[in-house]
Amino acid sequence: MSDALEIRNLKVAVDGREILKGVNLIVPKGEIHALMGPNGSGKSTLAQTLLGHPRYEVLEGEALWKGQNILELSPDERAKLGLFLAFQHPIEIPGVILGNFLHIAYQTVKGVEIPIGQFNRILMQKMRMLDIDPSFIGRGLNEGFSGGERKRCEILQMAVLEPEFSVMDETDSGLDIDGVRIVANAVNKLYEQSGGQMGFLIITHYSRILRYIQPLHKVHVMMDGQVVLSSGPELADELEEKGYDWLEEKLKAEGAIA
Ligand SMILES: Nc1ncnc2c1ncn2[C@@H]1O[C@H](COP(=O)(O)OP(=O)(O)OP(=O)(O)O)[C@@H](O)[C@H]1O
Ligand SMILES: [Mg+2]
Repeated sequence: MSDALEIRNLKVAVDGREILKGVNLIVPKGEIHALMGPNGSGKSTLAQTLLGHPRYEVLEGEALWKGQNILELSPDERAKLGLFLAFQHPIEIPGVILGNFLHIAYQTVKGVEIPIGQFNRILMQKMRMLDIDPSFIGRGLNEGFSGGERKRCEILQMAVLEPEFSVMDETDSGLDIDGVRIVANAVNKLYEQSGGQMGFLIITHYSRILRYIQPLHKVHVMMDGQVVLSSGPELADELEEKGYDWLEEKLKAEGAIA
């Protein structure tokens, strides 16, 4: 059993259209990887499929984690196996107080019951660690939250649930520079606290967040539903500077893509 999230030949359709066309990707436990790629290349589709959104139909392939094909498990079961997904567009659930939501999520994922008072102490400690305003937890889940505040909520949720592997889909987009730092610091701190055991797949368009993330082990590029290139962290800056067209042409010339 390999200690990694291993995606093998994953093909996924949305509303009958094939979006992922054979994704192969390995992120070992203990490593932080970035996934970049042009708009519409299938990055969010991959993220949503990994965490079990019902709209995404798996046509072929598997995603192995802890010796199981997680694609056959319910989203709840995936979370209990230590996986976490931060959404590109976080949801609003009116009427649910953030603190209560996190309490329930914590108990469900960890399979324990703890009194709210005790949980709140954990929550406070996490908020201090992440530099998140404590007034947050009394508010409705994402109700009237600004874009940046929603992202901070997601980071808080991740810190509270202490996943072993986290997929973050553009958690940094639309954030001001402090927000980007909060997200990057959260990744760094959670990674450190895990003793370098956690795994991350960070989907982003911007190298600015990646510059704050230490260590960053690899950068992958997705194009037209496939991972077409995997390289060292320096690739992120190159892509942000030069875009994707040159890479597409280069890969075509090399016969790596059609
Ligand atoms: N319901 C749908 N029906 C048809 N096509 C869809 C549907 N949902 C998504 N797609 C298409 O799937 C492709 C991949 O979308 P996806 O959101 O995975 O891209 P992405 O790489 O995350 O892009 P971005 O960088 O803009 O976030 C896009 O071409 C999108 O239009
Ligand atoms: Mg996306």
